[in-house]
Amino acid sequence: MAVDKKIILITGANSGIGYRASFAIANASPSNHVVMTARSAAKGTAALAELQARNPAGTLSFLELDVTSDASIAAAAERVEADFGKLDVLINNAGVTESIRLADKERARLTRDEFLRVFDTNVFGSYLLTQALEPLLRKASSSGGGGAGGRRPIILNVSSGLGSVDMRTKHDHMWTQFLFDCYRMSKSALNMMTVGFQWHFREWANVFAFDPGFTMSNLTGPEDVETRRAMGADSGEMATAGILDILDGKRDKDIKLLVSNDENKVYAW
Ligand SMILES: NC(=O)c1ccc[n+]([C@@H]2O[C@H](COP(=O)([O-])OP(=O)(O)OC[C@H]3O[C@@H](n4cnc5c(N)ncnc54)[C@H](OP(=O)(O)O)[C@@H]3O)[C@@H](O)[C@H]2O)c1
Repeated sequence: MAVDKKIILITGANSGIGYRASFAIANASPSNHVVMTARSAAKGTAALAELQARNPAGTLSFLELDVTSDASIAAAAERVEADFGKLDVLINNAGVTESIRLADKERARLTRDEFLRVFDTNVFGSYLLTQALEPLLRKASSSGGGGAGGRRPIILNVSSGLGSVDMRTKHDHMWTQFLFDCYRMSKSALNMMTVGFQWHFREWANVFAFDPGFTMSNLTGPEDVETRRAMGADSGEMATAGILDILDGKRDKDIKLLVSNDENKVYAW
């Protein structure tokens, strides 16, 4: 693998937004190499084979990575170091919600285990993975600034409008109907992580929180896939377009905000 390629690692790449974004990024340029990661090797290698069969302009590979496992994070960082020696873009996309459905109207009694599972994946995993990959992101920075295209390394945290404290206070907002207290809190914490890394890495990296918008995926379980469709969830085109815009530098002006895929819809934290 030639390291003059831009190396982009994405978590939770076997499903939903991560899966669609993996293809879109790989296809965006022959200079792009996407490291698809997933906690399940079987699901991840199947997803890789499907996307490779579509002959993207760039290249893809697979790496097993469970963001809730320190050993898995350490092994993945070692592999990226050995294979590429640097990382240009990290997309912290893997995410889970508590076990409720979109249409639920009664506030569920949350358990400590639910909180730990959701925060471990959405917050602790994203932080610890970023920390483990920081040296490789710094290497991309020092080797010319973000690989092909000469841009600064990017850390893109897939957040959610549901994590916006500002939006939660607007009781006439269309998403007020959604419960998801635990998920919302985890994404607020991810937003705080984002502004923290914006400060820590201000000399050499661009760090974003990105709201992909309401999208078809398995996030709230297979039972909710039809509910999502009925409620007007986007196919994923908007989410991937937003991610590509960030990678292309088109959203740099919005870096201090929770970036939405719609230019007119930028949330305060
Ligand atoms: N869909 C929406 O409407 C929407 C809106 C706003 C934000 N988001 C955010 O978008 C991101 C992607 O979600 P999605 O909607 O595409 O849902 P999805 O289809 O369920 O994809 C989530 C991915 O995260 C992976 N994952 C879960 N736990 C993991 C772990 N411990 N280690 C590594 N990977 C793990 C899942 O793997 P498995 O297949 O093994 O479970 C799956 O690949 C999430 O951060 C979500 O919060 C989604």
